[in-house]
Amino acid sequence: MADAPRAGAPVQLSAMRCVAYEIALNGWAILRETVNDFSLWRIIEYPWSTKALGLRRGDLVLDIGSGTSSYPHMLAKEGVDVIVLELDADRVRWQLQKRRATARPGDGRFFPLVASATDMPIRSESVDRLAAVSSLEHIPDDESVGREIGRVLAGGGLAAITIPYTSTERTGFFQGIRKFIQVQRNAFVQEGKAGSFFRFYTDADIDRVYVRPANARIGEWRGFGRSWLNGRYHETKLTKYWRRYVLKDLLLALLVHPIEERLDHSDPLYVMFTLRKP
Ligand SMILES: C[S@@+](CC[C@H](N)C(=O)[O-])C[C@H]1O[C@@H](n2cnc3c(N)ncnc32)[C@H](O)[C@@H]1O
Repeated sequence: MADAPRAGAPVQLSAMRCVAYEIALNGWAILRETVNDFSLWRIIEYPWSTKALGLRRGDLVLDIGSGTSSYPHMLAKEGVDVIVLELDADRVRWQLQKRRATARPGDGRFFPLVASATDMPIRSESVDRLAAVSSLEHIPDDESVGREIGRVLAGGGLAAITIPYTSTERTGFFQGIRKFIQVQRNAFVQEGKAGSFFRFYTDADIDRVYVRPANARIGEWRGFGRSWLNGRYHETKLTKYWRRYVLKDLLLALLVHPIEERLDHSDPLYVMFTLRKP
């Protein structure tokens, strides 16, 4: 029998492995229709975040705004300890139930926390690795979140953040598909859906809200969802297939996304970047 991986061994979470984990955690039905936000973007974000944080077995990650995502479980299965920080108590309960049903010996530890990222019950300068995957854009008071990330990150600590992006201004979102109302510059709420706040960030916003309060430096910087994957697929009527037929997302992530990133220089829908605190 092969030896169990050692503490300190690098964690590699490929797109394919993410899909395999989703099936293991949520059943085969996930391939037909997702039960969480698992989709094309997540298949791109989870492998990127894991690699960008340089995760190793035995590391501890603070995951902000976990929702009902499988990412914390994937990390735990890879031997990483995870703090699941989420505002919605029902979602944290869901995470805990999922954990109880799927935990195996050798998994990393799992620490669920009902709390707001604007005021985290976490010691200053105690976090070496922090992930925020498609969550910060939903928090109206993002300046407090930026200060909190700066406060909890330890010296030399690394945060992997993915957020919606615009180089200048967005005045519409999902136009003709779903009704989003603009409430601030680059910020929207979905009509009739309480708590659906959604914001796009410019370079200046990212610098002001996340980089400066942490006195941090941006390390990696990547984008996804440009004129093909966003313009011809996601932000069109095809979006009704967004949560369906997850295997198509694997093909799009592995084949189309790398080509798009190489050839297309239009604004990405999202950016993924790391912050390193000195
Ligand atoms: C799009 S969802 C989750 C995305 C998830 N990280 C993933 O990988 O699929 C955003 C989450 O942020 C949570 N959230 C909103 N405001 C928050 C806050 N102030 N503090 C922590 N979490 C918050 C929401 O409850 C929601 O579950």
